[in-house]
Amino acid sequence: MSVATAAKPVTTRDLRARKGGDPIVCLTAYTAPMARMLDPHVDVLLVGDSLGMVIYGLPTTVGVTLEMMIAHGAAVVRGAEHACVVVDLPFGAYQESPEQAFRNSARVMMETGCAAVKLEGGVEMAATIRFLAERGIPVMAHIGLTPQAVHALGGFISQGKTEAEAAKVAADARAVAEAGAFAVVIEGTQEPLARRITGEIAIPTIGIGASPACDGQVLVIDDVLGMFSDFQPKFVKRYADLGAEVSAAASRYAAEVKARTFPGPEHCFGVKR
Ligand code: KIV
Repeated sequence: MSVATAAKPVTTRDLRARKGGDPIVCLTAYTAPMARMLDPHVDVLLVGDSLGMVIYGLPTTVGVTLEMMIAHGAAVVRGAEHACVVVDLPFGAYQESPEQAFRNSARVMMETGCAAVKLEGGVEMAATIRFLAERGIPVMAHIGLTPQAVHALGGFISQGKTEAEAAKVAADARAVAEAGAFAVVIEGTQEPLARRITGEIAIPTIGIGASPACDGQVLVIDDVLGMFSDFQPKFVKRYADLGAEVSAAASRYAAEVKARTFPGPEHCFGVKR
């Protein structure tokens, strides 16, 4: 049975126990109404720092602040009943030291009510993940193509093309699992790397542009709904074209305002029809 249909809220322990079982369904969400719509269908609502690009129009996620994540995290928690809400720690909020990571994770958890935080990095973040996990902060790790490191990676480039690159991602996966992460997002890696990692580590892998063999999948909701058209990565599947619907609705509205056919008498107070 999918955890998504259970009445009680999905916990990080439930997700950890899904290793090798029913695929974990995860989508991003940034607002309360969207969280309410997605909640019955998913196990995890991820308040990703992708919001910087899809909501705020930033060129990368590097400019996202802790305040943005807290505001959107709290909104999503208000809209969610049973999905496990995970909030991204933004760039600069955790890389300095385990103590900085703890301070900012505690703020995110206390001010949003979310169940866990997500942070990017592998071997180099293992000590921080251990520090947080040992102090009661569940951590979802994120390895492979890590968008906060876009400038160091030289762009949004898939990882694992060379043996050395693949060995690094595999070492990252082992490191975050051993450090106590309850799950790990693997983004933008060449097959069969994520498939191999999924078979090797004890925690669930959640793929995005990684492999159908992962223990779960995640996509950015605006990509799924066709609401973000700046660019479309190869791994995105559009399940709707709401961007075109929005544009058509705005065009019809504009035409009716200009033609004075909206508002009609049915939209006016004190007018009998
Ligand atoms: O920020 C985000 O939305 C993410 C997912 C794409 C995994 O990290």
